[in-house]
Amino acid sequence: MIPLFLLFGIFATVQSLRPEITNPPVTGEVKVPHEVQTILRNSCYDCHSNQTNLTWYDKIVPASWLVAQHIKDGRNGLNFSEWDKLSPADQKAKLWESVNQVSQGAMPLQSYTLAHPQAKLSQNDIKVLQNYIWSLRVNNKPQDTAKIEALNDQSAALKKVENSAKIPQTPNGIAYVADYKNWAVVSTTQRLDNGTMRIIYGNDIAIKAIKEKKINPWPDGAILAKAAYEEIEDEDGNISQGAFKQVEFMSKDHKKYKKTNGWGFSRFKTTELIPYGKRADFVIECMNCHKPMEKNDYVFTLPIRQ
Ligand code: HEC
Ligand code: HEC
Repeated sequence: MIPLFLLFGIFATVQSLRPEITNPPVTGEVKVPHEVQTILRNSCYDCHSNQTNLTWYDKIVPASWLVAQHIKDGRNGLNFSEWDKLSPADQKAKLWESVNQVSQGAMPLQSYTLAHPQAKLSQNDIKVLQNYIWSLRVNNKPQDTAKIEALNDQSAALKKVENSAKIPQTPNGIAYVADYKNWAVVSTTQRLDNGTMRIIYGNDIAIKAIKEKKINPWPDGAILAKAAYEEIEDEDGNISQGAFKQVEFMSKDHKKYKKTNGWGFSRFKTTELIPYGKRADFVIECMNCHKPMEKNDYVFTLPIRQ
């Protein structure tokens, strides 16, 4: 047993080591509609701005050490008070990433909302953020005419393959499904490193399962598609969907695809929809990378909760 006085001693000493959190100047604040701003201020600013409410964190070491680290890391990755330091494209990308993080329930950090329940986002808050980000995507006509023309040529090329008698098929026997473009969108993600955006779609069975929260495991017949597109950026940095690069499918059938964790994997590349993989065992590559999501039935995407 450690004597009580010693504990107090340690406690008091450690308090004096409290890390200093300061609020550097705001160089340029994010410009978003008022209702979006309110949500960000309420739930994100303590860690992602230079306007941290310094009274909020429980001033007890070691909790404040953790908090100080969160604020440091948070500001490093995303700072709504130094928005002017990002290019318009990066600003847009950070907003996309923010909405993705929020949709997946990864932000605000749970350790924070436990202590600050008022910072938790309601379903409605999440919808407001999602609608805002989608409005950015669809309202802005891309400016890059060369790319748009290329895009038009492309969709014609794609249609030609889709309408041909021979439907492309991967070596493990999975045929391309042209209809995925009409399925509901489950989520969108962006890769900042190579300028692509990915749209994840679900067929009717998948969408029904999401609504009924029966996605662990996903039911047989569910198909998830992930399509990758180039991004087109206009003069204001608005990003919209550009040229098609590839589409991948995961088709659930726990019996038929037993050997591959219940999923049939397939990938078709370019507008020629070239099936990926030389032999049926190409799926090892897919499986290995999806393996960390084992507890989630091998699916990365947490659907935007309806
Ligand atoms: C308690 C502090 C805290 C709060 C509140 C918080 N975050 Fe974070 N956030 C972090 C930390 C720490 C990281 C970096 C490490 C990580 O990814 O876990 C981060 C990372 C991020 C990233 C990735 C940034 C990058 O590109 O590196 C995004 C986007 C993000 N947060 C969005 C949000 C949004 C949106 C909110 C509000 C709805 C929010 N966060 C609330 C602490 C916080
Ligand atoms: C390098 C790692 C990696 C490899 C290899 C990989 N994936 Fe994925 N896959 C991901 C990640 C990460 C996501 C989550 C969405 C995102 O961030 O783009 C994903 C998402 C998907 C999705 C949407 C459903 C979900 O899990 O979110 C499908 C469908 C998919 N992948 C199919 C495939 C197929 C088919 C292959 C093999 C030909 C494959 N993947 C190989 C990393 C990988």
